[in-house]
Amino acid sequence: MLFGPARFSHLLLFAGLAVASRVADSALRCRELNFHIAASGLNVDISNYTLDTLLTTPLSAVFSDPTALNFQYPVNGTFDVAARYCEPRQHDHIYEKHPHSDTLQFLVHGATYTRDYWSGLVPPGDPRDANNSWVNYASEKGYPTLTVDRLGNGKSSHPDPQLILQASIQAEIIHRIIQQVRLAASPLRRSFSKVIYVGHSYGSIIGDLVTSRHPTSINALLSAPIIRAVFYSPQNPLTYHPTLFNFDVDTRGTFSIGEIITALFSIVPAPMFQGEALVVTGKYDAIFCAPGAGSQVSDCGNATAGPVAETRALFPAAKSFEAVVLEDAGHCWQNHHVAREGFEAVHAWLERVGY
Ligand SMILES: *[C@@H]1O[C@H](CO)[C@@H](O)[C@H](O)[C@H]1NC(C)=O
Ligand SMILES: *[C@@H]1O[C@H](CO)[C@@H](O)[C@H](O)[C@H]1NC(C)=O
Ligand SMILES: *[C@@H]1O[C@H](CO)[C@@H](O)[C@H](O)[C@H]1NC(C)=O
Ligand SMILES: *[C@@H]1O[C@H](CO)[C@@H](O)[C@H](O)[C@H]1NC(C)=O
Repeated sequence: MLFGPARFSHLLLFAGLAVASRVADSALRCRELNFHIAASGLNVDISNYTLDTLLTTPLSAVFSDPTALNFQYPVNGTFDVAARYCEPRQHDHIYEKHPHSDTLQFLVHGATYTRDYWSGLVPPGDPRDANNSWVNYASEKGYPTLTVDRLGNGKSSHPDPQLILQASIQAEIIHRIIQQVRLAASPLRRSFSKVIYVGHSYGSIIGDLVTSRHPTSINALLSAPIIRAVFYSPQNPLTYHPTLFNFDVDTRGTFSIGEIITALFSIVPAPMFQGEALVVTGKYDAIFCAPGAGSQVSDCGNATAGPVAETRALFPAAKSFEAVVLEDAGHCWQNHHVAREGFEAVHAWLERVGY
């Protein structure tokens, strides 16, 4: 079912109409942007590992000896990263004076999604984004947001999926975008002194790499979480809206072989990161809390004990670390009924730690 042909095409039509109506009824002021980024980095040479290898051999067997791999495979290129910048509209004239107007929430989605992940899987302003839009909630609280199509997704560049589209070069690209938005020279045409990185899933892995390699790049890291049947709560389908689930399945994107393989090596400690860190996920996150087990049953524990709380070990020098485990939700908790509860918890944390 997950890989089935697209159905519910009327929903896609609605998505198209919504773009046209966005300007008129949205509480947000959004601009579509493009970052043109030159970047270089060291990827992993996985030229021996094709999709066929992965389909016939368990990952654990392929990588029983990671030292056999070359982790110093130089790559470079110039990449387009499609983005959307949204500012709260209610403060149109005096927005610059709002206490959060200088704090950018930089949101990076997970595998198979686009920047629309952060607005209920549809562009901001679509009537269907009401319950699941992080962007809307952040805006209500006065925060500007920047969402990007991660490399290889949506309207961004789609480079070689094996040797280029890996975690490492993506972390370098994201770091360069963060450097740009701290300067007035970026397409945002203004600078931000504070950048809160918000990652979901693969976006969290990239955020972890950024804090590990460039510990002062961002101010605070919000992983939600770090790490689709498994994207949703396997325990209880009543915890999410079936229409949203179906729309998600029908519009899902790709997950490249380079991304899949390099994910295994990219959840690394960030010993020099001294900002604040928060990890939040659903209690039944079967990807993060039961990794590799192929299990539909998982338990993320609570804020003080279990796999989510243990993420603390990655950030030994962080100014603070907190964990939130949402009841009644899976990996993509933003698509569950608890979404708003999660947004509240996240923004209460931001206020508490001084952003
Ligand atoms: C690919 O496999 C061959 C044969 O096992 C080996 O000699 C070579 O070093 C491998 N190359 C890479 C980049 O891993
Ligand atoms: C970029 O990669 C190409 C091809 O691998 C290489 O020839 C070139 O030297 C690299 N350029 C930089 C600036 O690293
Ligand atoms: C939002 O949630 C409420 C309560 O669960 C539901 O009645 C409503 O249909 C949802 N709105 C959308 C747009 O999905
Ligand atoms: C969290 O879970 C641990 C281990 O199950 C338990 O000892 C602790 O009381 C729980 N804490 C809260 C606040 O529920």
